[in-house]
Amino acid sequence: MLNAASISEKLHTEIHSIFSPIEIFPTIDSTNNHLLQLPDTQKHSGYVCLAETQTAGRGRLGRTWVSPANENIYISILWKIPIEKRYGLSLIVGMAVLECLKNSGIASAKIKWPNDITLNGKKLAGVLIEAVGDYVVIGIGINANMTHANDITQAWTSIAQEIGMVDRNKVVAELLYFLQKELNQFETQGLKPTQEIWSSVDALNNQNITIEQNGIFHEGIAKGISQQGALLLQTPSGLKPFYSGEITKLHQNN
Ligand code: BTN
Repeated sequence: MLNAASISEKLHTEIHSIFSPIEIFPTIDSTNNHLLQLPDTQKHSGYVCLAETQTAGRGRLGRTWVSPANENIYISILWKIPIEKRYGLSLIVGMAVLECLKNSGIASAKIKWPNDITLNGKKLAGVLIEAVGDYVVIGIGINANMTHANDITQAWTSIAQEIGMVDRNKVVAELLYFLQKELNQFETQGLKPTQEIWSSVDALNNQNITIEQNGIFHEGIAKGISQQGALLLQTPSGLKPFYSGEITKLHQNN
């Protein structure tokens, strides 16, 4: 079971003071909702909320995030970031998830722009970032020990499916470590370091894709990201940046 003392104990000592409180609910509507609704007087960077299950877990684009009990990781973290510095934030959160997965034994997961974590084309984790005033709520769902689910419509996998059961408290502690590392780097250097290594983590790299934006479908070859985190698409009329949108078709695996 998730346990705050066990997570704290496993946190690298230099980041102990950053992540507090670590609240764990047996059940909640959505960990993101909980932080979005915190009174202003309680808001501070590093406030962490986890739950064993969510009754109204949310994914991107109004989708439901299926949240079976006691198996996976549903976590939200509050962080203060000026509005003008938030471009590409989901990508660096994705980087932190990848680093955490790597430390847990899964080395070849990729980021499918803007915020899916996939392994061989199957979803392993997702990121939902929402804004509340000066803060963002960074919501992360990781399929950890789930081995079956009847109600997930897309292809998925979990750490357990790939390499066996994990200690979720340890994975959470690793995730928080890499998250603060990525956030600090993002605050000082922006997206540049991530942009430089993007091709090695990009699930779409050089693939023929279709992206939907406001009901219009654009086809082209994915060519990485811009310094603002936009997806770059090589189209017949040139290289085009997409700041938002949904990849609807990926014409090869992963
Ligand atoms: C997606 O891939 O569509 C994003 C999924 C994000 C799920 C996490 S689970 C913890 C947090 N609370 C929520 O309601 N959603 C996020």
